[in-house]
Formats: sequence, structure tokens, C-alpha cells
Amino acid sequence: MSRCSGLMLAALSLTAVAVESTLPVRADTGDSTRVANAKQYAHRGGVRQKGVYILKELDLRPGDVVVDIGAGDGWWVERMAKLVGEKGTVHAAEVSKKLVEAMQKKFAKVPQIKPYLCKPDSPGLPDNSCDMAFFSQTYHHLDLNSHVDYLRLLRKILKPTGRLCIIEKYPDISTKNRAHGTPLSRLVKEAEEAGWIPVRCEMIAGTYHYIAVFVQKDMFPPER
Ligand SMILES: C[S@@+](CC[C@H](N)C(=O)[O-])C[C@H]1O[C@@H](n2cnc3c(N)ncnc32)[C@H](O)[C@@H]1O
Repeated sequence: MSRCSGLMLAALSLTAVAVESTLPVRADTGDSTRVANAKQYAHRGGVRQKGVYILKELDLRPGDVVVDIGAGDGWWVERMAKLVGEKGTVHAAEVSKKLVEAMQKKFAKVPQIKPYLCKPDSPGLPDNSCDMAFFSQTYHHLDLNSHVDYLRLLRKILKPTGRLCIIEKYPDISTKNRAHGTPLSRLVKEAEEAGWIPVRCEMIAGTYHYIAVFVQKDMFPPER
């Protein structure tokens, strides 16, 4: 077993009992982990080339309220806005004033997109107001010493049924800019400490990245 798959399995096995059945580990092949061909993981590009697949995984619905933390140039925000529709909202949280202003200009005619300047330690939204918190390649930018606090804060901002979705580079398979990523095992540990349970963790085939989706621990009733 490779170190990469070993790490992933170790992280996933920590929570397998809590989610009753084994966690699905998917890689663009439906529910199967079978490697469809020898090149499945070979062609490595950025996550945007897998945007359609990732957005399908998020399963956003009309009326949903999402916060994209570290929205950057608004690439994901623009696509999410189409899925949540005019009755939904996509909060585009950024610490860069320049990027906020650029998004405000770019999305001036898309009322459901709300770009705003946030503090580095909080997206600053009201409690119980969001269906999803989304990070694409931003989690590693948060202050390393306050990851757990940040994720705890998100539990308040999200509705009880809200999901936390994190896309990060998997450092062990990356050969450059490894610091721009987070080991999945560390992310799962931090999220669990903050009261989140992973319901799906998968490598995004053709990239150096994984997507991890969490729900609140309270969603799991006590075992009888
Ligand atoms: C690598 S970029 C990713 C941009 C975008 N999410 C994407 O995937 O294309 C990271 C972004 O996170 C922003 N950022 C860094 N720390 C942040 C924080 N604590 N809260 C919100 N945004 C942050 C940066 O300004 C930058 O735009």
C-alpha cells in the first residue's frame, strides 16, 4: 500500500464507525474505488478543470446559502450562484480588499453574490445562517494555531444540517509548493476536534487535491 493511500485509510478508519458504513472514497469512478485505468491518477492539473465534477458533488440546491471563504477571483462563487439561484445567497468572504472590490465590480448584476471583506479569524456571518461553508485552497492560509477554533466557529454559523466542504492540496503526492496544502489526516483530526464528522473524503482524480465534506457531529444520534 502506498504511503498516500495508507494515510488516507488511517484518517478514514478513525470515523468509519461513526458513519455506520465505510466512508465512500471516490475518484471520478462513481462509488467504486477500483482504478479504472493505469492513468487515472496520472494526469495532474488544477482543480478548476474538475469544476463540473466538484460542483455536482456539492449538490447545491436553489435557495441554499453558501459562504466561500477565500473566494479569490470568484471563480467558484460565480458557478455556485447559478446553482443556488436568485433565492439563494453566495457570500464571498475575502481578506484581500482588492479582490473584494474586483468581485463587487464583476458581480454587480448578480444579486445573490455578496462579496465582502472578512477578518482572518472569522467569516463574520450570523449564527445559523448558512447551508455550506466552502474552502478551495484556502484552509492552509488560516492561522495554523487557530484551525480548530475557526472550525468551531463555523459550526455556529452553519445551520444544524449545514455542510463544511474543504478542497486542499494533498502534500504527499505534490512535488512543488507542498506547503500550499494540508495533510488529510490533519484536517480530519482538526475537524473532529471541532465537532465535525467526515462523510466523504476523496482524491479529485487528475489533480493533486482532495475534497472533504463534513457534517456536524450532532447529526448522529446516540447509538442504541
Ligand atoms: C489560493 S487562493 C484560493 C482562491 C479560490 N478559493 C480558488 O480556489 O480559486 C486563497 C485565497 O484565500 C484568501 N485568504 C487567505 N486567508 C484568508 C482568511 N483567513 N479568510 C478569508 N480569505 C483568506 C486569499 O486572499 C486568497 O484569495
